[in-house]
Amino acid sequence: MKVPITLILFAGFIATGFSQDVQNQEAEVTAPIGRIRGSFAESRLGRRFFSARGIRYGEPPIGENRFRQAIPAIPFDVFDATKEGPSCPQPGGVLQSEDCLRLNVYTPELPSPGKPDVGKPVLVFFHPGGFYAFSAQSISFGPEYLMDTDIVLVTVNYRLMSLGFMSTGDSQAPGNLGLKDQVEALRWIQRNIAAFGGDPNCVTISGYSAGAWSVSLHLVSPMSKGLFHRAIAMSGSATTPENLGGHQRHLAVKQAEILDCPTDTTENMIACLRTKPFEEFANSLGKFFEWYGLPILIWSPVVEPVVPGVERFLTAEPTELIRQGKAEKVPVMTGITKDEFAGVTVFWVEMSRNGNNSHFEDVDANWEEIAPIIFQYQRGTPRSKEISRALRTFYFKDQPVSLATVQGLANLFRDSIIGFPVHRFAKLMSEVSPQPVYYYEVTYQGRYSHRVWNDTQKPYGVVHHDDLLYLFYLKSNFPYFKVDDPEYQTVKRMTTMWTNFAKTGNPIPANNQDFENVTWEPLTPSNKKYLEIGDNLTMKTGLYAKENEEWDRLFPVAPARNTKTSVKH
Ligand SMILES: *[C@@H]1O[C@H](CO)[C@@H](O)[C@H](O)[C@H]1NC(C)=O
Ligand SMILES: *[C@@H]1O[C@H](CO)[C@@H](O)[C@H](O)[C@H]1NC(C)=O
Ligand SMILES: *[C@@H]1O[C@H](CO)[C@@H](O)[C@H](O)[C@H]1NC(C)=O
Ligand SMILES: *[C@@H]1O[C@H](CO)[C@@H](O)[C@H](O)[C@H]1NC(C)=O
Repeated sequence: MKVPITLILFAGFIATGFSQDVQNQEAEVTAPIGRIRGSFAESRLGRRFFSARGIRYGEPPIGENRFRQAIPAIPFDVFDATKEGPSCPQPGGVLQSEDCLRLNVYTPELPSPGKPDVGKPVLVFFHPGGFYAFSAQSISFGPEYLMDTDIVLVTVNYRLMSLGFMSTGDSQAPGNLGLKDQVEALRWIQRNIAAFGGDPNCVTISGYSAGAWSVSLHLVSPMSKGLFHRAIAMSGSATTPENLGGHQRHLAVKQAEILDCPTDTTENMIACLRTKPFEEFANSLGKFFEWYGLPILIWSPVVEPVVPGVERFLTAEPTELIRQGKAEKVPVMTGITKDEFAGVTVFWVEMSRNGNNSHFEDVDANWEEIAPIIFQYQRGTPRSKEISRALRTFYFKDQPVSLATVQGLANLFRDSIIGFPVHRFAKLMSEVSPQPVYYYEVTYQGRYSHRVWNDTQKPYGVVHHDDLLYLFYLKSNFPYFKVDDPEYQTVKRMTTMWTNFAKTGNPIPANNQDFENVTWEPLTPSNKKYLEIGDNLTMKTGLYAKENEEWDRLFPVAPARNTKTSVKH
């Protein structure tokens, strides 16, 4: 693909927001969509890279366009991408705006007249946050570590909460808007990324938590077909124990009630919700939790109804589509951290040490009511009771839920929300796909964590998001690791494995001394192998095998159809 290039350097003094920015220079890229002005910053190892932030890929979804699929950005003359762009509406969002369909492009090498086709692999990152928090902003996901490698990094905003995931089960709001936003971003990348030195034929989609759910869904979405070539799903997958279902009408009604809108018909409800300021949506998030900030996930992707003239992102249950061999046959990397959401229990233990056992006591006394809320499975049915009883037997050996049995609770938080869905995803993909599935567990524990003990400030373990510390500079809350910090080896290993995978589909090339000569063998149905990423890199077998066997027993799926040989590589 040939793209006209103009590269104009300005000497200027523009605050870019990068603390490492020492160049104070700007450059302009001419892409098919228009000219984009970006700035320069410095990677961890001091390499200069180009940064274009907050580029609009979709028109603002406001007014009549709220709750509608994004309109691709209208070509512009010049777009100023030298500063941080907005986040989508959410409680406490930085620079938040509904004009938030933006992406950030970071690249170590722009095309030049002498080298118009740079053709670097493209790594796309869909951010975490339960479909109601975070953004792609560089203050949340700084590119400085990944910009030491030879890739083009694209981080993507998408609509959140009711504004992104309203699904009434009918034509008014069929659902999945936030995911369709991501598709629009992937289409933008196909058209424009060559102008930034990226190869549109080598695109790896990656994501964390809600972003990993998204990746697992792009693998089965007709809208995403042909827009990517490899996939990385970190600590999340939409292959949940229960089906996603076809709508979340109860949440639409709840949102309407909170914002004083009628709920008699979907038309009236949506028309009224279109008139409310976005801040009112953002500020109502807390009202959706049911039990002390839980469940962790509220808004979910859904299997969309057929609506004439509307593209469907998801046409059937993702687990079923993957089981039938209908997922894209591309190389996949997926895995979890050692403790994931087990860190939720830190607060319970601290309360208990302060003499307040109310969380433990409430869960113990009302297990069949609370367990389905906090571990996220069906409620109020005879089957729900059966599941609750089985989990209690398995994780607590029928002992009371208390400080003494808190490890059972921690394991349940780890397995129910993240561990088992990722296990199911990895297992099914390894059964149906001829392409490798690289499965991992991150056990490396550095000095910092998203969950520390109040008294010692020491990490509880390796919880959800902790491995992101080694891929991105999380500047809002964590230090910038120096090359001689103990964490840096893991930064080096993870950024190298992730980008090797983006380049070649294999995270560890043969005989690589940086990786202790380990061979990362893909998971197969018979070998059950995974790589432990700890102080050392170690091949192991059967990640949380006993626990996952129990979940597989409680939430069975029919055997996968082996489609390994029926598909071209
Ligand atoms: C214990 O904690 C619960 C939940 O935060 C709170 O509602 C309750 O008032 C606390 N009890 C005491 C005695 O402080
Ligand atoms: C955490 O420590 C602070 C200061 O020592 C104290 O005020 C607070 O109550 C503690 N919180 C918990 C949950 O123990
Ligand atoms: C890796 O393999 C090379 C070549 O066989 C060898 O020289 C080196 O000592 C090995 N490194 C480790 C950490 O085993
Ligand atoms: C882990 O690697 C270090 C070197 O980085 C080595 O000293 C140590 O023995 C290894 N530990 C294990 C369990 O292999």
